[in-house]
Parts: sequence; structure tokens; C-alpha cells
Amino acid sequence: MKNLAIIVPYRDREENKKIFIPYLNEYLRNKNLRFDIFIIEQGDTKPFNRGKLLNVGYSFSSKLEEYESFVMHDVDMLPVNVDYSTPTIPTHLASRVEQFNWGIPYQLYFGGITSFPSKVFEKVNGYSNRYWGWGCEDDDMFYRIQYNGIDWSRREGGMVRSLNHTPQADQEEHSKKNSDLMQEAWLKKLDHKQEGLNTLEYEPTSYAHDGDHYLVSVNL
Ligand code: UDP
Ligand code: BGC
Repeated sequence: MKNLAIIVPYRDREENKKIFIPYLNEYLRNKNLRFDIFIIEQGDTKPFNRGKLLNVGYSFSSKLEEYESFVMHDVDMLPVNVDYSTPTIPTHLASRVEQFNWGIPYQLYFGGITSFPSKVFEKVNGYSNRYWGWGCEDDDMFYRIQYNGIDWSRREGGMVRSLNHTPQADQEEHSKKNSDLMQEAWLKKLDHKQEGLNTLEYEPTSYAHDGDHYLVSVNL
């Protein structure tokens, strides 16, 4: 069994990816961890869907090999001092992020880098597939955890450098729409079992393994 699968949601951030892959490989090797990095690329031109890509990554990697934990990892985050050891509960790792003035934007932030024991990811039914464009899929995951009465934690000292990138298209518009969707879902106490990993559908388009990472391309 390997220690961790790193799942990276990805589209069109070549400059970040070129730095991220060798950097993270070296960082994790130096910690003597056994790991694989999965870049999950959205191939279509629909708005980006981070939650759905993370579900694809979980589904793909967990069929390939057994991992103690699954780490959902943005491509613009370079660990300076991050503890990737296997947690027993969902754990937020990116707690001192350069782009947030070496902190977090709000107390219940659950984005950037998060680590899940496999059983817990299944129990919350993964991420929601419904958040297209920027925002809320990570907040929705936080509520899924709460809904199930599962404990969570944050590792302090999780220092992360941020890489520059252009913002997502129509960020504000998507953010507003996603925020409405999330509020509606959780006000109505939508059962997370209705939607998530168990309703995931996508079209695989290509797959490659070149030694230091897997590249899985899909249409969502
Ligand atoms: N992402 C990507 N291409 C995109 C949008 C997002 O690869 O067009 C991935 C990437 O891993 C990125 C993460 O999704 O780090 C979070 O999105 P983004 O960086 O846009 O969020 P922000 O850091 O601006 O809040
Ligand atoms: C969004 C999250 C995002 C966070 C930090 C929130 O408003 O809903 O998706 O990760 O801001 O940028």
C-alpha cells in the first residue's frame, strides 16, 4: 500500500504545472513518502469543475492502487512546510498560504490542500458535481463532513507558496450562482447521498504515465 495519492484538478495552467510536478515530487521523496501524483485534466470548454475533477481523481486512483490517504491539491500551491502524513479524519493542510497573507481567508476554509482517509471520502460521497466555475465546492465539502458528524482538523504550520495565474473566466458570476446553489442545498438539508461520487459521470479521453505523474484527461 502507498501512503498517498495526490489529486490535482487541472486545465490550462501549464506554467504552474511545469513548476509544481518536479517540486512536489522532490518534496515528498525527501519526506520518504510513497505516493503518486494524478493530474486530472478537464478537456472540454465548459466552466471549470474542481469538485467533479477531484471525484474523477479519487475514482481513478483508488482503482489503480491502495492508498492510505487522498490529498486534493491545487496546482498553484507549493509546500514549504506541509505535513502530508496520513490523517484519521479529513484534514486541512494549507493553513499558511502566501496568497492569503500567509494565513487562511476564513476560519472554515477547506480548500487548497486537503487530505482524506479513503473511507471518509466514500462516507461523505465525495465532492458535489454541481459546482461549475469558481467557488463553493470546497465549502460544500465542509458541510458534507459536518452533515455526517465527522470530525475534521487543520494542521497548523502548513506553509504554502502561491504561484501566479490568471483568474478563472466569469469568476464573480459563477461565485454568486454557486453560493446560491450551496445555500439552497444546505438550507433544504439535501442528502449528500443523492449526488456526488455515486452519481459521477464523465468521458475519459486520454491517459498517460510518464514516471513522475499520471495525466488523466476527461470531458465532464
Ligand atoms: N484550476 C485549473 N485551471 C483553471 C481553473 C482552476 O487548473 O482554469 C485548478 C488549479 O489546480 C487551481 C485550482 O483549480 O490551483 C483552484 O482554482 P483557482 O486557482 O482558479 O482558484 P483561486 O486560487 O484563484 O482561488
Ligand atoms: C469560495 C471557496 C474558495 C475561498 C477562498 C470562498 O468564497 O467559496 O471556493 O476556496 O473563497 O478563495
